[in-house]
Amino acid sequence: MTSNTNNSNYSNGNTNISSLLDRDGGDTNSGNVDFIFNSNQRLSITQQRIALPIYQYRKHLLYLLETNQTVVVVGNTGCGKTTQIPQYLHESGWTDGYRTIAITQPRRVAAISVASRVATEMNEELGHTVGYSVRFDEKVSAEHTRIKYMTDGMLIREMMLDPLLSKYPVVMIDEAHERSLATDVLLGLVKKVQGRRKDLKIIISSATMDAELFKQFFNNNITNDKSKDTAAIISIEGTNYPVDVHYLEQPTLNYLDTTLNTVIDIHNLQPPGDILVFLTGQEEIDKMVSSIQDRVDAQQQQQKGNKMKVNVLPMYSGLSINKQIRVFEKSGDPRKIRKIVVATNIAETSITIDGIVYVVDSGFVKIKSYNPTSGLESLVVVPTSQSSADQRAGRAGRNRAGKCYRLYTQDAFTKLPVHSIPEIQRSNLAPIILQLKALGIDNILHFDFISPAPTISLVRALEVLYGLGALNDNGQLTQPTGHIMAEFPVDPSFSKMIIQSEVLGCSKEVLSIAAMLNVQGIFTNHNHKARREFIVKEGDHLSLLNIYNAYTSKSSNGKTSAGPWCHEHQINHKAMQRVVQVRKQLEAYCHKYSIKVVSCLTNAAIKDATIPIRKSIISGFFTNAAHLQPDGSYMTIRDKHKLFMHPTSVLCSLANSPEWVLFHDVTITTKEYMKDITIIDPKWLYEMAPHFYVYEK
Ligand code: CDP
Ligand code: MG
Repeated sequence: MTSNTNNSNYSNGNTNISSLLDRDGGDTNSGNVDFIFNSNQRLSITQQRIALPIYQYRKHLLYLLETNQTVVVVGNTGCGKTTQIPQYLHESGWTDGYRTIAITQPRRVAAISVASRVATEMNEELGHTVGYSVRFDEKVSAEHTRIKYMTDGMLIREMMLDPLLSKYPVVMIDEAHERSLATDVLLGLVKKVQGRRKDLKIIISSATMDAELFKQFFNNNITNDKSKDTAAIISIEGTNYPVDVHYLEQPTLNYLDTTLNTVIDIHNLQPPGDILVFLTGQEEIDKMVSSIQDRVDAQQQQQKGNKMKVNVLPMYSGLSINKQIRVFEKSGDPRKIRKIVVATNIAETSITIDGIVYVVDSGFVKIKSYNPTSGLESLVVVPTSQSSADQRAGRAGRNRAGKCYRLYTQDAFTKLPVHSIPEIQRSNLAPIILQLKALGIDNILHFDFISPAPTISLVRALEVLYGLGALNDNGQLTQPTGHIMAEFPVDPSFSKMIIQSEVLGCSKEVLSIAAMLNVQGIFTNHNHKARREFIVKEGDHLSLLNIYNAYTSKSSNGKTSAGPWCHEHQINHKAMQRVVQVRKQLEAYCHKYSIKVVSCLTNAAIKDATIPIRKSIISGFFTNAAHLQPDGSYMTIRDKHKLFMHPTSVLCSLANSPEWVLFHDVTITTKEYMKDITIIDPKWLYEMAPHFYVYEK
């Protein structure tokens, strides 16, 4: 595809539109637009609530919940499932007696933004009657919170302390169709709890038509008499505005160019209304945000195109929550400024960004993929599914009729898979199995998953957990190691490396490395020139430690000096603040389990402080060890999987490639790359992971 905007032709269904993005015929200054954009402010919150499609179903929904153990709610996005159902329950007495409704979300940002919306609707401060709880952050009051939004992972964690979920009369599992790993596990767990607690009501909400699957999973009726069903489905007929879907007439060779051109065309040719663009990941999104801004600036300088201003915002999970929620803020008068949000699929469901009229769908998504044979989890970019594409289109048409531009042909759409593959079938299951074990579920192979986890992944996970020392020879959780690992709010590889670092006398340093690896987007530039002074020859982990230590010595001098320091070294200040926060939380867990926080840098008895640190990292990440091959690639030691060193690794600048390395994770672009790499001595593998690597003489 050339960069000439007028070359991209679209069609919508039967009618071919040869001129790109037909003008809507709307007068951009008409009073209509004003009405549309301010309608929310003109209606009182109560009026808005009553106007939602779900309101008509309030009584019926409450009735079904009285008469069934499980209710599956199906309805278009925006019909009011997430924000309204918990309020209906609260208003009708389900939270009396200091009880709380739990509502789970697959994503942190959804849990937080929705809790804040509901608090506003109820005219309450967030964290009082309405609260949220997500990993590393919560706003709840044990005494006052009656409606609690949380990630599905957090509810699983809560079950370790309260296996029967006794404070919740109702658990609502929202966005269940997304089939996140934690959602699938939670579905199995709450079904088990329901077996013990007949009074526990479960609401499953889903935007698409997986309702029958959910209903069958929860229905305990073994007779043919339908009147004895214990689960019911309720469909909310929505009154969303129509979304006109356009396709490319010819496939594009470069979806990024086409995305940019389409956004600029919409901006120049279409009436006011915000734009939501779906791309795959952080780097792509950051580039697109500046390209859009540059193009608009350039055409305005030449006095061409639309004179309206733009407010271009990125949205991906690596951004701090504060930055993510900026997309919900009003940009100003919608006739004068157009908001353009460039997002990953985190904007695909759960959240409502007011004012979106146009959606540009690249047709791609970055997902986790897992190869159980090599044991490697990686991120890959793949075409979306039809149901994802429909979700994306559904982000338009919230306040008025919308348009969706799919950057692929209609024929390509029909060839997309109907649903995305559930995460459980493409994930490393070690973390979740550790949690199931901690919940007393011993026979993992027989756990009632809504769709089965691949046996090979389950077996691999058990093997890794055994290697980590979390399970004993009988497959039971070890005491105390396994139990502590299950409770740490990070993957077992991290908790193991932290536990081991106490023994090796370097937990202070290892905690900092763990925190750095748990925050995305630390560097504003991947070329390490500006950070040369922190780079050490052992590799990325220790370079990260140096950066962390340098940062904290700056920031403890008073907040003012850390900002410019970060800027000078091309480090994202906000990300570093988050690292500090995450580290504090991890340290608090260490105190809880009496893991001493000790430093190897101040211990004169330790000659080479990098050794205990690297050994600790191996104790958690021993599966990720690789050996240099004659062709310059690497091969994982046990599973013989070919990998390459990612160009962002500090080890890439070495004259000679190191022979033995340990990497943190894998990313797949043109090749399979290892990221965050450290040089190791292979002997340490036998020492730190004797169950996994058997020494052969
Ligand atoms: O869960 P579902 O997609 O069915 O809808 P919801 O999230 O409960 O949102 C219902 C309505 O509340 C939306 O259509 C918006 O009009 C409004 N809403 C909003 O204005 N701002 C939010 N942050 C969330 C919802
Ligand atoms: Mg929702």
